[in-house]
Amino acid sequence: MAIIAPSMLSSNFMRLEQEIEMINNSDADWFHLDVMDGRFVPNITFGMPIIAAMKKLARKPFDVHLMIVEPEKYFEAFAAAGADVLTIHYEGAVHLHRSLQVIKSLGMKAGVALNPHTPVSLLADVLDDIDVVCIMSVNPGFGGQKFIEQATHKVRCLKRMILDHGAKTLIEVDGGVTLDNAHALIKDGADVLVAGNTVFGSPDPTDTIKRLKEVGK
Ligand code: DX5
Ligand code: ZN
Repeated sequence: MAIIAPSMLSSNFMRLEQEIEMINNSDADWFHLDVMDGRFVPNITFGMPIIAAMKKLARKPFDVHLMIVEPEKYFEAFAAAGADVLTIHYEGAVHLHRSLQVIKSLGMKAGVALNPHTPVSLLADVLDDIDVVCIMSVNPGFGGQKFIEQATHKVRCLKRMILDHGAKTLIEVDGGVTLDNAHALIKDGADVLVAGNTVFGSPDPTDTIKRLKEVGK
């Protein structure tokens, strides 16, 4: 069964408390939190203080997706704010191996996200050190974008690599996930589905989460 991680970027920030309770009481597994700095991506969202505040109410793990330059400067701060999974971008990590070890030494699971143009083969020598690979199926920066089809090919390639390595790495797909493409993604090997617009743009987010969860049954 797939892990469903609603992206809070598409939630209503004026009602954040109710949105968190909605996720708490839904079939969702993780909170997906998109941190953007206006440098790595052309958008700015939120950071540690908001995450720390949300943590007080949330009863499910925090999957924190860092879209920032020099993420290693903030690993400790995100651990303190409540991140359970901390994902950094391959394209923004000069010393990826070291960063993965530091993230894990702080008690978090370590994730690596790949932009649409970055091949999964580049992770071959660090696969055993990665808890979650996040395949970006849109260009990072905004919610509500269209799914890039090439991502399905990457999920299949990565699944093969993980099986060949005998690794336990989870495959996460982030961007443009819908009730229409979720089934194929899970069949191809996705373990975690991030969904922002599909959940929060629907008339009944709780029911949409339930339906996404049922796709993977
Ligand atoms: C994009 C973010 C995604 C995004 C997903 O930069 O990493 O998590 O919010 O939103 P949807 O599901 O609307 O594409
Ligand atoms: Zn994300």
